[in-house]
Amino acid sequence: MSALASTLEPTDGDVFERIAQAIGRHGYAVMDAVVPSALLDSLFVHLCNLPGEALTRAGIGREDDHQLNRFVRSDETRWLEPGEAVADEFLGWMEQLRLGINRRLFLGLFDYEAHYARYSPGAFYRRHRDAFAGGDSNRVLSTVLYLNPSWMPEDGGEMLLYADDELSIVERVQPLYGRLAVFLSEDFPHEVLPTRRTRYSIAGWFRVNGSLGGHIDPPR
Ligand code: OGA
Ligand code: MN
Repeated sequence: MSALASTLEPTDGDVFERIAQAIGRHGYAVMDAVVPSALLDSLFVHLCNLPGEALTRAGIGREDDHQLNRFVRSDETRWLEPGEAVADEFLGWMEQLRLGINRRLFLGLFDYEAHYARYSPGAFYRRHRDAFAGGDSNRVLSTVLYLNPSWMPEDGGEMLLYADDELSIVERVQPLYGRLAVFLSEDFPHEVLPTRRTRYSIAGWFRVNGSLGGHIDPPR
């Protein structure tokens, strides 16, 4: 069975069940129309109305080597801050997903952080992993929600999800409006191919509690 699935207007409980099931079986899920459409529209309007300078060149990890960054990725990002109505609604939905996944898969997901991302024409993000075994990011499960109305294949900007061995592509994800990708952060190298149109997404990460290992969780 493929993890690629789509449905019309499922109930939320069913949605969390299906996402958890796909992650349990395949390590990832790509699903359409799972985030409520009113929430999608609020996020899209919020993102489109942000002043251009609200989004800034994205960094890699915690060091700040801009030369390297420019080679690896050229998107611009802005964190979703709790306290903003739209952000709170989205973070609330992700909190339900967190609880639903923990209930079914016992991943011990502890919190969630997310940012808006804008890829201007020509922008890309080379193949990378969101977390490494033994690394200090505590990221366990990555999410990407796409907000691009009437996206066409010739617009580029696909996300390629690779197998752990980095040899085979397990999924090619068009950044279609309302599509949600969820995958185990350590297990799936992935990349964003150069986009030809401005491309919007919200990337987020469920994390485990870093302080459990006896050290304080570093700030992002
Ligand atoms: C990321 C990322 C993928 C995408 O921000 O780490 O891999 O499709 N984003 O936007
Ligand atoms: Mn990534």
